[in-house]
Amino acid sequence: VRTCVVTGSASGIGAATRARLERDGDRVIGVDVRDAEVVADLATEQGRSALAEQVSELADGVVDAVVACAGVSGGTGRPETVIRVNYFGAVATLDRLRPLLARSAAPRAVAVSSIALQFDRDPAVVDACLAGDEEAAVALVGGDATGGRAYAAGKRALARWVRRQATTAEWAGARIALNAVAPGVIRTPLSHYMLDTPEGRAEAAAQIPMPLHGFGEPEHVASLIAFLTSGENVLVTAQVVFVDGGFEALQRGEDVW
Ligand SMILES: NC(=O)c1ccc[n+]([C@@H]2O[C@H](COP(=O)([O-])OP(=O)(O)OC[C@H]3O[C@@H](n4cnc5c(N)ncnc54)[C@H](O)[C@@H]3O)[C@@H](O)[C@H]2O)c1
Repeated sequence: VRTCVVTGSASGIGAATRARLERDGDRVIGVDVRDAEVVADLATEQGRSALAEQVSELADGVVDAVVACAGVSGGTGRPETVIRVNYFGAVATLDRLRPLLARSAAPRAVAVSSIALQFDRDPAVVDACLAGDEEAAVALVGGDATGGRAYAAGKRALARWVRRQATTAEWAGARIALNAVAPGVIRTPLSHYMLDTPEGRAEAAAQIPMPLHGFGEPEHVASLIAFLTSGENVLVTAQVVFVDGGFEALQRGEDVW
């Protein structure tokens, strides 16, 4: 039985991932601000150290997969909270559980980024994130009226952090596959503010057209995460896999290299 840690397990994509992994026979340790084995606020140092300590105890020091999924919406969350949870909370989850992964026979990790990374126009925020300077990143987005800028920059930084780390001695050298998934628009409580009116849906469809099937369901992301975190995934690492019905290809074109 594989032991998998899923943050953001109480809702949406995290809840669907938990359900999918449990259906596959895995044991899931959920981490969330509510309704989870480990109740922790990943915006805070206290929550991040609680995550590391409690997971280590519950998992007896060995974890087979980590899914950093907890996140806050750029539309409804405060900019400061968005950057603290979506980037620094996710990186803390992966970094602090890495020693537990290193003890597994087939360790895998996934960070949940977003198609929203393509709306980022903010290299200074991304740089502050990648430099690990949480207070600088918070200061740069702190005055914003919405969390939109923090969301796009945090999701871009998270994807870049994955690509940067995955090939290093700490990750690839420890046999840990590390990937990001970047969903398009998925029907969850997080995107409800966009999708609950006809006007909002039309705007989202115009901004993020998804040629294959339109808006997705959390299960469509969970099935990809299930593969990436399974023992079956041997060689896929350092990738940002778009789960977006083709939007990324529409935007960026056919050339991949
Ligand atoms: N829904 C979409 O369209 C979409 C698209 C791309 C990426 N994403 C990303 O997918 C991930 C999951 O989002 P979702 O759509 O399932 O949203 P959701 O709101 O349904 O679930 C998010 C979960 O994260 C938890 N969470 C929030 N702040 C936390 C904190 N400080 N500490 C611990 N847990 C916290 C929430 O309690 C909730 O259970 C997020 O990272 C989000 O940015 C979502």
